[in-house]
Amino acid sequence: MSHELHQQNRRSWNHATRAHNAHKGDQAGFLRAGGSTLFPEELELLGDLHGKRLVHLQCNAGQDTLSLAARGAQVIGVDISDDAIEFARTLSRDSGIAATFERADVFDWLASSPAAQLDIAFSSYGALPWLSDLPTWARGVARVLASGGRLVVVEFHPLLNLFDDEGRITSQLAKGGKGGHITWDKGVGDYVAASEGALPAGEHVETQPFVNPEPCHEWEWSVADVVDAVARAGLRIQRVVEWPYSNGCKFFPNMVALDGKRWALAADAPKLPCMYGLVAERA
Ligand SMILES: C[S@@+](CC[C@H](N)C(=O)[O-])C[C@H]1O[C@@H](n2cnc3c(N)ncnc32)[C@H](O)[C@@H]1O
Repeated sequence: MSHELHQQNRRSWNHATRAHNAHKGDQAGFLRAGGSTLFPEELELLGDLHGKRLVHLQCNAGQDTLSLAARGAQVIGVDISDDAIEFARTLSRDSGIAATFERADVFDWLASSPAAQLDIAFSSYGALPWLSDLPTWARGVARVLASGGRLVVVEFHPLLNLFDDEGRITSQLAKGGKGGHITWDKGVGDYVAASEGALPAGEHVETQPFVNPEPCHEWEWSVADVVDAVARAGLRIQRVVEWPYSNGCKFFPNMVALDGKRWALAADAPKLPCMYGLVAERA
């Protein structure tokens, strides 16, 4: 595990989070009016949330966290980014939806929060590539879940790494290699702008092009890496699902818009999954 690389990611995410939220209109009003940023895919895997004690791991600026809380869960959101947590707390106050937000490296949080207290640990949409040590993460998740508690993951598919920035199959496979990390000098990008309004909770606002001054580090985990780490942590795998589209995020300019703020690979691309989901239960 590399806390040093995580701290660099914290700086890069602070810049990116400010840029992302600059596109998002009246998010508090959207949530107050009953709006939700959750997609049917995670709702189906999460099941009934009423009264559930839930941690939203790497919650960013808290839009999904508050949408979970609005469905009756008692929610803690955890993220390493100062700006994300500050934004999430403000959004909670302004929307009137209660949730607890904690700024922490997810590894530290999983190691130090009370054991066996949670019904659900939820991780979604671009969270796992920021983890430098998947087996330690999975053991931490198992540690905080109560008996019968579940890990629910909805994540973008690592097969998307086959494509270059333009959405063409690239020959540079396995960018990070097993367990290795990839450094992006241009840092976390403005994928909210690229997604043409499919991501913001409120009305989409155009801004100046964003340049992130802070590089970032990512890890490339296969679906097998994730399933294996979770199973070895002692959680029982209940579901593994793949979907042939990406919720909200337009990764490549040639992606095709589908209903419900989803994007499919270009018509001439191989029919590959763009997202996967996993549910695992603690005995
Ligand atoms: C793509 S965002 C996740 C989006 C999130 N699912 C949501 O609901 O908006 C990735 C998040 O991971 C956070 N992150 C990256 N490394 C982390 C770490 N080591 N500990 C905690 N959070 C981390 C970033 O700050 C960022 O907010």
